[in-house]
Amino acid sequence: MIETGEFDFENRIVAPQIIKEDDSETDYSLRPKTLSEYIGQDKVKENMSIYIEAAKKRGEPLDHVLLYGPPGLGKTTLSAIIAHEMGVNIRVTSGPAIEKPGDLAALLTNLQQGDVLFIDEIHRLSRAIEEVLYPALEDFAIDIIIGKGPAARSIRIDLPKFTLIGATTRSGQLSAPLRDRFGVIQRLELYSAEDLAEIISRSAVILGVAIDPEGAYELASRSRGTPRIANRFLKRVRDYADVMGDGRITKDIAKIALDRMEVDPLGLDSLDKRMLTMIIKGYNGGPVGLDTLASAIGEEAVTLEDVCEPFLMQLGFLARTPRGRCATELAYRHLGIPRTESDGQQTLL
Ligand code: ADE
Repeated sequence: MIETGEFDFENRIVAPQIIKEDDSETDYSLRPKTLSEYIGQDKVKENMSIYIEAAKKRGEPLDHVLLYGPPGLGKTTLSAIIAHEMGVNIRVTSGPAIEKPGDLAALLTNLQQGDVLFIDEIHRLSRAIEEVLYPALEDFAIDIIIGKGPAARSIRIDLPKFTLIGATTRSGQLSAPLRDRFGVIQRLELYSAEDLAEIISRSAVILGVAIDPEGAYELASRSRGTPRIANRFLKRVRDYADVMGDGRITKDIAKIALDRMEVDPLGLDSLDKRMLTMIIKGYNGGPVGLDTLASAIGEEAVTLEDVCEPFLMQLGFLARTPRGRCATELAYRHLGIPRTESDGQQTLL
C-alpha cells in the first residue's frame, strides 16, 4: 500500500495557483507593467506586440485573445500589460464569478470603447452565459429578454467595441463556438530556468533583497517553470537568509532553505512524488487512467492534470499514452526505485 497521507494542498509552497501570501501588495509590485519588462514567453510577446501595434495603427480595438497554459505563468499579468500597451482600461473577472446573464450584461455595458474585459477560467462559463457572449463578441451587442411568457420581448443593446481576453488552463474544455470567436490564440509555456533566474533577480531588486546569480539559479531550477512559485520562493528564502546568514541569498542558503521546505532539487514536491510513486508501485509503472490514479492518491483529477502533469512531462518523467499515464525510466531513476520484471510492459524511452 502507498500512503496518501494528509496533504495541505491549498497551501503547498509549489502550488501554481494563487495562495494567500501571493495576493499582497508586494506581489502586485513584482508584476511587470510593459511588454519590455516581461521576461520570457518570447513568441507570445513578439506576436502580441505586432497585433497591438497594428490595432493601434488602424485605430481599432485589439481582436479577442485567448491565452492558455498551466497556472501561474502570468496570464493575468500579460492581459494587464496588453491593456496598458493599448492605452485602455482592463476589467478583471472570472468564469465562476459570472453566475447570471445579467452579471455579464452589467460588465459589458460598463465598458468603454477599446477596453479589455479579462475573464479568467473562461472554460467555466455556463452555456447560458456563453450564449449572451456570442453576439457581444461578434456584433458588439447583447439581446436582453424583457418580461415573461407571451409578453416577453427581446431588445438589442449596442456595446462599445471592446476586447475580450480569456484565460484558461484547459483550452480543450472550451466549447468550439467560443474558441472560434477568438482571433488570437496563444499558448503560454513553462519558463526555462534561465528566464526564471532573470525574473527572480528582477523581483529581488524590487524587494531590496541581495541575491547571488547562483542563488537565483538555484531557486529558478526548483520553481517548476512557474514565475509565481519563483517569486514565492524568493520571499521565503529571504527569511532564511535574514535569520541564518547576513541577508544575502547565496546558493548554499537557497539549497538549505528549499530542502527544508521539502522541495527537491528539480522542484518536485510530495504530491508529484506521490503521483509517480503510485504509478510505479501501484500500477507497475503504468499505463493507468487519470481518474483511477487520482482516486488512488486521494487527489482531484483536474489538479493532477493541470498542475502536476505539465511539469512532470516537461521533465520527461511522465508519458501520456492512449491507454493511460506511464512513469518513464527517468522517473524511476530520480526516485531511486529499481525497475522490476513486471514493470513497464509498455515501451518507453
Ligand atoms: N514576474 C512574474 N512574471 C514575470 C515575467 N514574465 N517577467 C517579469 N517579471 C515577472
